[in-house]
Amino acid sequence: MYTPKILEWDEALSTGDSSVDEQHKYLVETLNSLGTAILDGHGTEAIARILGRMRFYAGWHFDREEECFEKYQCPAAEMNKNAHAAFVEKFDRYHKRFHDAGGSNDMALKIHQEITDWIVNHIMRVDGELYPCIHHRPKP
Ligand SMILES: [Fe+2]
Repeated sequence: MYTPKILEWDEALSTGDSSVDEQHKYLVETLNSLGTAILDGHGTEAIARILGRMRFYAGWHFDREEECFEKYQCPAAEMNKNAHAAFVEKFDRYHKRFHDAGGSNDMALKIHQEITDWIVNHIMRVDGELYPCIHHRPKP
């Protein structure tokens, strides 16, 4: 069975833009709050509240980050935009399922796992494309 782990921020996740990095840190913190709420049995309402906060914040952050990709004329801008749209769709689908089922720990775990995999992979692979566009050298 999947057990949420506390994620630690790592410089390997840096995009080279400090405000985008701060926003990513907040997303990671929110994922950690979700993991803790599930493991400590805080209940459906607390989990739903965190999911709502995460959805709102992710939407806001994606807009800021997409502006940043445009500003630095990053070739990955379109790919990043499409990935964000796919995430929002996936998140909303899970969120609705969680809501419709009245919430369950198994579903919350599944959502945590899916979102964590997506966010970590996305930050490393796609958002990391910002680094060379800002600093004109490869990411260390
Ligand atoms: Fe992104």
